[in-house]
Amino acid sequence: MYYPEELVEEIRERNDIVDVISGYVKLQKKGGSYFGLCPFHNEKSPSFSVSQNKQMYYCFGCGAGGNVITFIMEYEKFTFAESIKYLADRAGVALPEVEYSREAREKADLRNVLFEINKKAATYFYYQLKGENGANARAYFEKRKLSEETINRFGLGYSNMYSDDLYKYMKKEGYSDKILKESGLFTMNEKGVYDKFWNRVMYPIMDINNKVIGFGGRVMGDGEPKYLNSPETMLFDKSRNLYGLNIARTSRKPNLIICEGYMDVIALHQAGFNQAVASLGTALTTGHAMLLKRYTSEVLLTYDSDGAGVKAALRAIPILKEAGLRIRVINMRPYKDPDEFIKALGAEEFQKRIDTAVSSFMYEIDIMEQQHDLKDPESKTEFYNAVARKLSEFTEPVERNNYIQAVCDKYFIEYDSFRKLVNDYGEKFYVSNELKRQQQEAVTVKKAKDDGVKKAQKILLTWLIDEPEIYGKIKQYISVDDFIEPLYHDVAAKLFEQLENGRLNPASIISTYESEEEHKEVAGLFNEELSRDLSLLEREKALNETIIKVKKNRVDFRSRNATTADELKELVREQAELNKLSKMHISLK
Ligand code: UTP
Ligand code: MN
Repeated sequence: MYYPEELVEEIRERNDIVDVISGYVKLQKKGGSYFGLCPFHNEKSPSFSVSQNKQMYYCFGCGAGGNVITFIMEYEKFTFAESIKYLADRAGVALPEVEYSREAREKADLRNVLFEINKKAATYFYYQLKGENGANARAYFEKRKLSEETINRFGLGYSNMYSDDLYKYMKKEGYSDKILKESGLFTMNEKGVYDKFWNRVMYPIMDINNKVIGFGGRVMGDGEPKYLNSPETMLFDKSRNLYGLNIARTSRKPNLIICEGYMDVIALHQAGFNQAVASLGTALTTGHAMLLKRYTSEVLLTYDSDGAGVKAALRAIPILKEAGLRIRVINMRPYKDPDEFIKALGAEEFQKRIDTAVSSFMYEIDIMEQQHDLKDPESKTEFYNAVARKLSEFTEPVERNNYIQAVCDKYFIEYDSFRKLVNDYGEKFYVSNELKRQQQEAVTVKKAKDDGVKKAQKILLTWLIDEPEIYGKIKQYISVDDFIEPLYHDVAAKLFEQLENGRLNPASIISTYESEEEHKEVAGLFNEELSRDLSLLEREKALNETIIKVKKNRVDFRSRNATTADELKELVREQAELNKLSKMHISLK
């Protein structure tokens, strides 16, 4: 969905940033800004600042920053378009109706009706549970130690003994057979129409916006299948939804816990681990991994400790790794799943297991060990070789060495010879470590230098929005092209235009970008830490040095890239100008 810039700007202006953020974070006025505890990282003293003037926020602790749109994107985990919609609603700004094709409109209508049917069905099951027919189901949940509050939070229910009462109810509500068929809640064949679920306790499955998209139903005792699930429908795509994510996504925990089943998620939440989710009855997919990555950078696996669970974990690890997630595996033995673990040992013990969860690498080694007989020399050698081969896949030397150390400690292997074995494997597949190290070092040196010049550019941009009056004094020396990084260049162009027209509005520049990453980076450009409390003389010195640094970077950049005669001539001219500039002094008076 594309919204025109002016509309985005109107919506942004109508939502005062202090107002909006106050709804989420307790803010206190301090000087020209408001401060509070950063909602994006754990901290004890406030480094999260909100500026009413600039209409921006910035955390000096973790670097989170942006305008009011960014805040909603980051906090609510919304996309840019979702945030715009949210803020438009909040301020009562009407968004243009999207021009749908007839086909698209019908599809959107159908989706809405299906959401409605699912919601009605969930409510229906809920009242069945609470009503006189629900005694057995209530007793079942009680036996499984679910509190009233948990039942309500997850909207659990009961589908009663009659095999078509949900159908009759939906007909009374006026839905056609055609659309009821699409909902996946009914079986229709030549013999008639039946409710798909009956005499089962019901678990509504919700998407991240808390909308019901399907159901799982469990038999209350033995019987096959143990769980019956809604089929995939227009709303329910099993490979893109995770049970419990609607709650877990706002849990603000440092990780998400992935487990196997409905009851595991519910038991974990009830014990306070409300960051738990499950992929239901399907193997974890790349779609799941990408979804998880939107909300966290670390996942903890608590799959069942039986053979099938181990297999599922081993299959999930590379998929999660591919998505860039850090992975640790929780050991639940001797219990089968988190539900049983917590029932037996309680939340505190589970927290201990979280604290001692091992990296996915050590877990994989563990499993390999179980597949070998370490008392048999041949099998033991095979195991060591397999471990060495796996270790050689770490390309980062420090990481590799740390894991070699860990493995040696664990299995009492002699370090030097084992390391050699690993590196021999490594060299077969990768460039030699020494070459790698040199490359790494060159990168580090270059990066430090880059950071320095980037910093000078940031200082200048921040300074310009803090004290726009200096623009008039420096504009003859500094131009947009002095900002080399593409993003910096782009931002400088927009900022200089505003300064030229005397309409400084940095927050509006932020929302010309769509991604959260860019928002954060632009906010960083406008929030470089400037030394306060300097004398006029010191300030002048700092400004002059910064300008020279930025200019010099430009000349360096050119000299690296100039090839044609014209470019070389230009370079000579710029070098001369720089020399002249370094002898001058820009005064702030
Ligand atoms: P499990 O068989 O491990 O069950 O299935 P569980 O979660 O421990 O269930 P309880 O504690 O006996 O109630 C794990 C998950 O696999 C899916 C369900 O999502 C279940 O939660 N599953 C299992 C099915 O979809 N159908 C089945 O018949 C069994
Ligand atoms: Mn279980």
